Amino acid sequence: MHTQVISVRRIAALLSLLLISQLSIASKPITLQSPGNVNSLAISLVDGELFYSVDHSGKAVILDSKLGFVFKSQMVENKNLEIIASETASFDETWTQPWGEVEKIRDNYNSLTITVASENTPGSRTMITFRAYDDGVAFRYEFEGDERWGDALIMDELTEFNLPADHQAWYIAAYQYNRYEYLYQKAAVSTLDTLHTPVTFETEDGLYISIHEAALTDFASMTLARTSDHGFESDLVPWADGVKVRGPLPMKTPWRTIQIAEKPGDLITSYLILNCNEPNKLGDVSWIKPGKYVGIWWGMHIGRTTWFSGDKHGATTERTKQYIDFAAKHGFIGVLVEGWNLSWDGDWIHNSDSFSFTESYPDYDIHAVTDYARSKDVSLIVHNETSGGILNYEKQLSDAYTLYEKLGVKGVKSGYVAHTKEIKNRDPETGEVLGIEWHHGQYMVRHYRKALEMAAKHHVMLDVHEPIKPTGIRRTYPNMVTREGARGQEFNAWGPDGGNPPDHTTIIPFTRMLAGPMDFTPGVFDIFHKYGDRPDNRINTTIAKQLAIYVVIYSPLHMAADLIQSYEEHMDAFQFIKDVPTDWADTRVIDSKIGDYITIVRKDRNSENWYLGSITDEIARDFEIDLNFLEKGIEYRAEIYRDGDDADWESNPMPISIENKKVSADDSLKLHLAAGGGCAIRFVLLD
Ligand code: NOJ
Ligand code: CA
Repeated sequence: MHTQVISVRRIAALLSLLLISQLSIASKPITLQSPGNVNSLAISLVDGELFYSVDHSGKAVILDSKLGFVFKSQMVENKNLEIIASETASFDETWTQPWGEVEKIRDNYNSLTITVASENTPGSRTMITFRAYDDGVAFRYEFEGDERWGDALIMDELTEFNLPADHQAWYIAAYQYNRYEYLYQKAAVSTLDTLHTPVTFETEDGLYISIHEAALTDFASMTLARTSDHGFESDLVPWADGVKVRGPLPMKTPWRTIQIAEKPGDLITSYLILNCNEPNKLGDVSWIKPGKYVGIWWGMHIGRTTWFSGDKHGATTERTKQYIDFAAKHGFIGVLVEGWNLSWDGDWIHNSDSFSFTESYPDYDIHAVTDYARSKDVSLIVHNETSGGILNYEKQLSDAYTLYEKLGVKGVKSGYVAHTKEIKNRDPETGEVLGIEWHHGQYMVRHYRKALEMAAKHHVMLDVHEPIKPTGIRRTYPNMVTREGARGQEFNAWGPDGGNPPDHTTIIPFTRMLAGPMDFTPGVFDIFHKYGDRPDNRINTTIAKQLAIYVVIYSPLHMAADLIQSYEEHMDAFQFIKDVPTDWADTRVIDSKIGDYITIVRKDRNSENWYLGSITDEIARDFEIDLNFLEKGIEYRAEIYRDGDDADWESNPMPISIENKKVSADDSLKLHLAAGGGCAIRFVLLD
């Protein structure tokens, strides 16, 4: 802290010198090109106000758009600005993901940092760093102020994103009661209000653009409020008192990211957001192991068992042991158990302080099940539903994670079921409610970070439901393995609108998933809920599509969500779930159209085998796939799991046809996807 204060003072002294010898670069735009000259940024100062614009190969992506912030102290001016310094740099480094959708990621950009200040705000200055990558651009602000300015209280962000035309947007609206759990819609920008990010745009001239943010670590989430026909302004989610962001100076914002592609699939294989995050802070992360899990979960969602106590209580010692046996037999690394802890009885959603994270129901012997799991080389995935009771959870975090580590638990699935503006910020001492916070404001960003750090300390991987949106933090904290933050499979159990329509999984790879992995919980074969009590719901899929989702939707932890009895009835199709890895050396999108279909191939990180997942919306489709991604001159056995000849998601979802074929890189494969169907293929290298 001490050194920080000194350095800020020194900077302030330097700053006054710099102001005197002002650089005369303010009049014409400063430009920055990406390494391959694909994307360019232009920064201009017009009448003391700062703007940026972005081009992609001569096409406008962002028209002149304002940059700026409003501080309560007025320490930052947005008029009368001078550019007092500017510096460019280049960076080219390839780093290895400990786990991921690809093994190696190239981080290659040109950057420009400008320092701006105003005569009216002595002792304060703002640095803005822009990066131009070949797959998009990013920028962040850094604020410095000497002791005159105290701590930062940000009241508003003025960053604009002015689009050149009325593009089509794939979006979900912000500030809705159910957080991020909505179906993405497509509409012209001019009809929209305030949106969550990532939001994806399709332009008339064939570009695909996604606006999001990276490295959201101690700040408010950015939403986008439409402020002109086709322009947005950053709208930071506020604290209860209206302040958007608080904290000490100097302060850095998250990166504002704009990914730009000529094919929708290139958005998926853009790693710009990860590149804007800091490298692994945890050192040796060999304890973090991707894999698949099963669990006591789906039964609750289809009304077969309950989280709460009684005759139908799901989390019993006996049932958990059955799932451990099943996991061990079929190669799953974990068993999730929900409803194990006190107390789910009563209105758990609204009584958020009732949960204990260490005490279990009497019919669940946590020591017996964890001992049993360890003896079978399986880990429990302990469930921590907080229902938004943040203080209640934070008070127990240390004891709970100490216990879990002692019991050999390697994963925690946390949950924050609470309406979007129902989070009580309580005084840690008295418990008094200081304010009702949004799910996505800085208060919650800080909480999720605290929980993540506690998990890291105790060598636990995290799977967060009702999370803050992903912004690439997994690079810095690789134990942040996966999260929900969208409508997952659970909506097919009880969604009052009939669940996720067939196109949902053809949209989320290009929207929510551009932000990071998702715990979608695929692999339900009991399409009509015959084992449950949900007569008005079903899954809008074929069986083959459930398999293909394991490849299409990336998650280092993937669930096989269905009940054991359901898998035992379909052991042939279940074989693909057993085989499919969750950690990849390479990922390629073969072909895709947002909302219609997508075909992805991925290479296993731990073998020479490749996997293909292809899914469609409610329209049947035929594709011919060139197998040139396979290694040349070698034969593979293609184990093909395709829709049965007369399969159809609506009228006949069950038929699946499984066949093997010898193939090589010179071949192509014809795929027929039923309406609402899919195809999953495992390519096994033959000796
Ligand atoms: C919502 C989560 O998404 C789901 O997976 C979990 O079972 C319930 N909350 C209960 O915690
Ligand atoms: Ca959820």
